[in-house]
Amino acid sequence: MTAPVIEVRDLRTHLVTRWGTIKAVDGVSFAVAAGETLGLVGESGSGKSMTYLSILRLVPRPAARILGGQVLLDGDDLLKKSEREMQRIRGKRVAMILQDPMSSLNPVFSIGMQVREPLANYHGLSGRPLKNRAVELLASVGISSPADRLRAFPHQLSGGMRQRVVGAMAISSPPRLLIADEPTTSLDLTIQAQYLRLLKELQTRHGLAMIFVTHNLGIVAKMCDRVAVMYAGRIVETGAVGTIFRAPRHPYTRALLESVPRLGASTEWLTAIEGQPPDLAALPRGCAFAPRCPHAMDRCLAEEPPEFTLVPGHASRCWLDAPA
Ligand SMILES: Nc1ncnc2c1ncn2[C@@H]1O[C@H](COP(=O)(O)OP(=O)(O)O)[C@@H](O)[C@H]1O
Ligand SMILES: [Mg+2]
Repeated sequence: MTAPVIEVRDLRTHLVTRWGTIKAVDGVSFAVAAGETLGLVGESGSGKSMTYLSILRLVPRPAARILGGQVLLDGDDLLKKSEREMQRIRGKRVAMILQDPMSSLNPVFSIGMQVREPLANYHGLSGRPLKNRAVELLASVGISSPADRLRAFPHQLSGGMRQRVVGAMAISSPPRLLIADEPTTSLDLTIQAQYLRLLKELQTRHGLAMIFVTHNLGIVAKMCDRVAVMYAGRIVETGAVGTIFRAPRHPYTRALLESVPRLGASTEWLTAIEGQPPDLAALPRGCAFAPRCPHAMDRCLAEEPPEFTLVPGHASRCWLDAPA
């Protein structure tokens, strides 16, 4: 086993709202190795964004606070870094691709200015080498006539093209860890498939560890090696992608898989599961899923299940999996 690129241990991030304190991330642990992709899935509000925002220390202030845990990037705890050190880590050792490519690009600056900025800041490039590197980067993500595109403004490019520019910027350092949150939802299906191929290729080329947040089962199957299923701020099941699809254990995972009619490119996990999504400000005493769970027992309402390892690499937080 090689050492993981990113290892999150018992991460806890709470939010103070006027409805009370929300345990948005409540004891989350996982690790991702170089070249590996972890899919982070679960209904909306389950804590996926807060988890990766905590890794980057970009949680909404002042409401959110990272209360504990460790975020080890190549063994280096990011929760112990100063804000100044974090600024050098973001975009360099850890890069992020978000849903809306427009929000990652500044509409008033040319593509060239935006692509050159990290190259100048982090790599100290300037003049001709800087321009050449910018052209090379755009070409490496499949953008044709890259020299011309550098002069264009974001609104002059198609959605797919903008997404490629964001991808180019994300791998410019290249980073050790790439976090992608629904990076293809704003794209049509053909462009989506191309973009996913590109991300895979960049990952292989640079040996990136990747955290991939998506609602799309087809994308999970195509992109991820392992899956972590989140519910109410916790990872309730984790396993290899094949295991999660073929032999899901946690009733929530099973409900998620059953809530889609079939596996395909456009099937999505919707909030189509019976019962109400949990109110994170008023979670029940035992298992957070118990009120919606068809298998709930007395114990589930009284005691929170710990994580049970079924086989190495496959774990579930459910009393049904308690060893006899
Ligand atoms: N800026 C915020 N202020 C208050 N609550 C928030 C904020 N951002 C997220 N939350 C709450 O934190 C919880 C986790 O949210 P989030 O991580 O965004 O979920 P996901 O990405 O899985 O949809 C949710 O209950 C959400 O309502
Ligand atoms: Mg989110």
